[in-house]
Amino acid sequence: MEKKLNIAIVGLGNRGKHCFTELIKERSDCRISALCDVNLHRAKQVAATLDDPAVYTDLKEMISKEQLDGIVITTPDEFHEECAVTALENNINVIIDKPLATTVAGCRNIINAVKNSGKIAMIGFNMRHNPILVKLKQLIDDGVLGRIIMIENSEFYDGGRTYMARWNGRKSSSGGLWIHKGCHDFDMFNWLLGFPMPRKVTAFSGMSVFTPDNYPFELEDGIKPGPSCRECHYYKNGKCPDAAVYDENEWGKEAQACDGYVKDSCMYQSDLSTHDNGIAIVEYENGVRASHSECFVCGKSYRSYNIVGTKAVASARTDGSTIVVDDRFNGERVTYEISRKDGGHGGADPGLVDSFIRAIKGEKVQAATFEEGLISTAIGQAAELSKEQERVVFIKELLGE
Ligand SMILES: NC(=O)c1ccc[n+]([C@@H]2O[C@H](COP(=O)([O-])OP(=O)(O)OC[C@H]3O[C@@H](n4cnc5c(N)ncnc54)[C@H](O)[C@@H]3O)[C@@H](O)[C@H]2O)c1
Repeated sequence: MEKKLNIAIVGLGNRGKHCFTELIKERSDCRISALCDVNLHRAKQVAATLDDPAVYTDLKEMISKEQLDGIVITTPDEFHEECAVTALENNINVIIDKPLATTVAGCRNIINAVKNSGKIAMIGFNMRHNPILVKLKQLIDDGVLGRIIMIENSEFYDGGRTYMARWNGRKSSSGGLWIHKGCHDFDMFNWLLGFPMPRKVTAFSGMSVFTPDNYPFELEDGIKPGPSCRECHYYKNGKCPDAAVYDENEWGKEAQACDGYVKDSCMYQSDLSTHDNGIAIVEYENGVRASHSECFVCGKSYRSYNIVGTKAVASARTDGSTIVVDDRFNGERVTYEISRKDGGHGGADPGLVDSFIRAIKGEKVQAATFEEGLISTAIGQAAELSKEQERVVFIKELLGE
């Protein structure tokens, strides 16, 4: 019988628990043999749902005591670099959820560790497994659209409650949303286009809504909102339509007592250093231009694409099940029906986890490399810099010649 692979998960918040733990524990070819989270309360809660994994709060200790075939890193972004380098220096295969790291320098440190270890190193660009995007890529590669000249993409994400109430909204933790969130979309551009080098980036972004002068309710005399939703007068009285109170066991007082991590800080008065909407434009060395808009002030979540080629334009939305291709010359429209898959992120998450496990077993799989992770972080970092300094940023400023 095939030996089960021993997998450890580092970071047992939303993604570690609800995506990776759930998907890995269902598999017959591997087991979750160890868990690590700086928050022991959360780690123990996940452990209780599994077959007696060892529980740690320190990655180095876990590595020194366990025989691991692979480590999944789902900590906040600022810790990806340290965790990945530690795992790779100890010759363990890793998958790091996106972004690879919050800076180009951090990505390079990870890449060096990969070169020295020779181990499997994957990045959690799950969108590459989304059936709509896989089909779009196939249409481009088959030449159906002709030579691609332009891509227009936007993301609407009902993510204010997630992003603006905790670490994601702080540049020091996430690198800023052009890196944290935009890295997915910049990777999509790179992947769909066959990895031309990006040349320059410009971005406009700002905070239009999640500020203390935009509470979505009338303030009562002398009653301040917050500091967290759980404690807030306006939440308790049903007046804040934006309140998000998470599971008490995972994120309540007992968990907070371990490390002080509050997941439901008032997003209108958090110490945010990122944007809630913006537009970034990338121009590639081969002349292709791509624009990415992202907006976190909306009640729905989907991405849309218009991909313009010399023969036809393809249009799709990730919450739909069709791709429409309009011919440039004869006006004909072809509609491709795409079967949706079960699983998180439009069926993309199971594909991501499957790739990692099969790669450890030595199978050839579709996987984003760390070099590709570096390029998407570089575009995100350039967008952050462009916004900050109000100028066009050349990628070579970040990557060198
Ligand atoms: N691929 C995707 O579609 C996708 C979607 C959401 C999030 N993500 C990524 O997944 C990662 C986790 O995001 P999340 O929303 O689950 O965060 P989260 O805040 O819900 O959970 C993070 C967990 O990591 C723990 N942690 C913090 N520092 C640690 C350390 N040094 N070592 C071990 N554990 C540590 C925290 O205690 C917490 O339990 C992020 O990198 C995020 O960018 C990817």
